[in-house]
Amino acid sequence: MRRRPVIGDGTRATPGPPWPASGPAAQQPEWATHPAYESSCAALVSSPALVTPGELTRLRRTLAVVAGGGAAMLQLGDCAESFEESDADQVRAKTAVLHALADEVANGIGRPVLRVGRIGGQFAKPRSRPLEEIDGTLLPVFRGHMVNGEAATSEARAHDPRRMVRAYEASAQVLRVLARERGQRAQRTQRAQGFDVGPWASHDALVVDYEARLVRSEAGQRFLGSTHLPWLGDRTRAPGSAHVRLLSTVANPVALKLGPSTEPAELREVCALLDPERDPGRLTLIVRMGAERVAGLLPPLVAAVQDAGHRVVWLSDPMHGNTVRAAGVKTRHLDDIVDEATRCKRVLEQAKEHPGGLHLEVAASDVTECLGGKVDGVDRLAERYTTLCDPRLNPDQAAELMRAWIQA
Ligand code: PEP
Ligand code: CO
Repeated sequence: MRRRPVIGDGTRATPGPPWPASGPAAQQPEWATHPAYESSCAALVSSPALVTPGELTRLRRTLAVVAGGGAAMLQLGDCAESFEESDADQVRAKTAVLHALADEVANGIGRPVLRVGRIGGQFAKPRSRPLEEIDGTLLPVFRGHMVNGEAATSEARAHDPRRMVRAYEASAQVLRVLARERGQRAQRTQRAQGFDVGPWASHDALVVDYEARLVRSEAGQRFLGSTHLPWLGDRTRAPGSAHVRLLSTVANPVALKLGPSTEPAELREVCALLDPERDPGRLTLIVRMGAERVAGLLPPLVAAVQDAGHRVVWLSDPMHGNTVRAAGVKTRHLDDIVDEATRCKRVLEQAKEHPGGLHLEVAASDVTECLGGKVDGVDRLAERYTTLCDPRLNPDQAAELMRAWIQA
């Protein structure tokens, strides 16, 4: 890891303890007694931020346009990124899919589409169980490359804080590619000052040890240096959590996943903490209820947010509430995904809210992880099932979803 001076340049200034993240934190790695814990945290503290305050301002301005209905947004990528897939060619293959799908939506709706990847830091996963049994052996579950390895051995599955440093380095490599693409786009379209479509980075800000040590400040403003748009998953968005406290102190736009257990009162509370100024574009709410439940569960949540005066971006994640098991693996039916996305859009329109777009797990290659389109039976799932975690749409399946969503 490169060590840089930490004074003089604001983006390299260190916040110093105490970290702005007190409170209970669910889903954390168990590594505090590892011999490399302190040195790994220290390496993060002395590393430069991966994003700039100027980028965050541009993204927030753009999100405000989406919140106001002047544009749409697509946020997509892997469920879990791999350390082995962060070179420039691999990243460009992923952003090419993001751009192709976003261009399709932009043509369909006649408005610009903001592009955000689940990329450049999506290395940590919340899991429903701490252990799993594989061939008769009980092992810690895979929690993303920031925490452990996916191989089914106890060595690979041990939590290793040195992986935070590798996650930082892989993220830095990916974010450099995104920055170059944004620069090229701005030059081509001469719109550097206007609606900046991206591609921007986002990830689940799950591992507090990592995120809190990448908080930086510049000109009196505190920001999270690990990504442009951090989100909190359905399991870590409780109002009193360390995660919410951390994100309430930074200038980045932030997103929250809303699952079926979300209560209107709790949503009001967390929105008030994260968006006290009622700033359009500060908050993105990602609805992931399941196709059968979204029409019933979403209306009171939308009403609560409207009533409290927040101007948010509403996205549908039609994947995480529709996971099933088939042929021994996790999968999802494209039909269910289309149903949830279109029902969510209808609820939002009925409530006079702008359906801001979609949050999806999509692979850059022709994987066979979800059922639908050419993946026409469970016996085909094994053909190219390569995800590290949840089943992703392939680009053809994602395009079919996009067309259905545009027309709904
Ligand atoms: C995810 O986005 O991969 C995820 C785990 O989502 P959620 O927090 O909504 O379950
Ligand atoms: Co997932």
